[in-house]
Amino acid sequence: MSDTATFEYKGKKIEFPVVEGTENEIGIDIKTLRASAGVITLDPGYKNTGSCESAITYLDGEKGILRYRGYAIEDLAEKANFLEVAYLLIFGELPNKEQLDKFHSDIKANSEVDEDVKKIVDSFPRTAHPMGVLSSLTSALTAFNPSCVDINSEEDMYNAIVKIMGKFPVLAAWTLRRRNSKPYDYGNASLGYVENMLYMMFKKPNEEYKLNPVVVDALDKLLILHADHEQNCSTSTVRIVGSSHAGLFASLSAGVSALWGPLHGGANQAVIEMLEGIKEDGGDTAKYMEKAKDKNDSFRLMGFGHRVYKNFDPRAKIIKKSADEVLGDLGVEDPVLSIAKGLEKQALEDDYFVKRKLYPNVDFYSGIIYRALGIPTEMFTVMFALGRLPGWIAQWREMRLKKEPIGRPRQIYVGENLRPFVEVSKR
Ligand code: SDX
Repeated sequence: MSDTATFEYKGKKIEFPVVEGTENEIGIDIKTLRASAGVITLDPGYKNTGSCESAITYLDGEKGILRYRGYAIEDLAEKANFLEVAYLLIFGELPNKEQLDKFHSDIKANSEVDEDVKKIVDSFPRTAHPMGVLSSLTSALTAFNPSCVDINSEEDMYNAIVKIMGKFPVLAAWTLRRRNSKPYDYGNASLGYVENMLYMMFKKPNEEYKLNPVVVDALDKLLILHADHEQNCSTSTVRIVGSSHAGLFASLSAGVSALWGPLHGGANQAVIEMLEGIKEDGGDTAKYMEKAKDKNDSFRLMGFGHRVYKNFDPRAKIIKKSADEVLGDLGVEDPVLSIAKGLEKQALEDDYFVKRKLYPNVDFYSGIIYRALGIPTEMFTVMFALGRLPGWIAQWREMRLKKEPIGRPRQIYVGENLRPFVEVSKR
């Protein structure tokens, strides 16, 4: 007899089955709650509510653990490359050389974007935020690739996956090139996946693009660290949009928009803007610590805190170490790095932050590396999206293959009770 949980309300006792995951996480399956007890649960922000069972990513927020398909993030960041990790997340196993080579060549064979998409890119103001442009272009792909994924066909699913893995970096690069008034480039098929991202973003029309291995390695590692993070806001968005059987590209476009928010992926841009503001204001970190703690001040210490991690975000640890290495290798002096380290030190010794278990998250140091790599601030969240793409795909694929029901939360109504209509002449 599997474990159960007893719910009692107004003298009525109901048993609900308990689900235990492979890492001993416990969930109470309340699928029959409303039918059997006539009540629903209420959990704004879903802080205590699981939306699914998933075999893709495991987090332990208390212990600061992150694993993709059982592999520790520390191992993957150190020993794997981003395309290997993308394959692992999507298909569940690390690829052998033949599988990886085929995956990459299929992606390259599908990386062309219809020339007419350039007209859409050109229609945006150069000052448009790249995340708004990228979300629109991703959605526009559905117009140029109208066939919906037949989830009963592994081949159809695979083809859709290599299509978006090929085209998304092109769209991201074109977004930047539009801002910089540079011609749009399809990249160079002889390059690696991450190398080609850099090539498409930064190649000047009149000179060879020289790849810096330090930059390539740093970006590859950052993309791995951003690749998936279980049911975060943007992934949950991709899942719920996909649960209506909207297409993969439409679901991903929604995920890009959700990621844009400064409380989520947009935090990496907000962190740098915050650090720059503190630098401009004389570098008085203590003043900003007080502002972050002041309930009457809307200022938050961006890059700090996390819904799940109540200990160090393991990605932040890796990125902080990488920031020192990359800036050292590139000979870049960035004053905001010492401001960031000063804030971190003060926060880790401050009761307000310690009591609320607020630690640096993935966004706190990542922008410092992106900046050292020559990536403009407004493109930081696009880089997050480039990393998160395989995670979104993997989660969408898992949800569709499991034939999950359409996502449709309930609510508790707190508005007006029934009242008679009143003619306008009598109001
Ligand atoms: C990402 O979910 C994921 O996995 C996301 C992500 C991924 O890989 O997909 O990890 C990526 O989005 C990382 C988070 C990036 N966002 C930021 O850095 C923005 C700054 N941080 C926050 O706004 C906040 O910490 C959240 C949004 C990340 C988490 O918010 P929660 O879980 O809803 O917690 P909360 O807002 O209720 O905060 C709890 C308390 C509050 O104080 P009290 O009301 O208890 O007195 O902590 C305080 C908050 O005011 N607090 C902060 C703070 N974050 C929380 N106070 C000052 N500065 C902060 N950054």
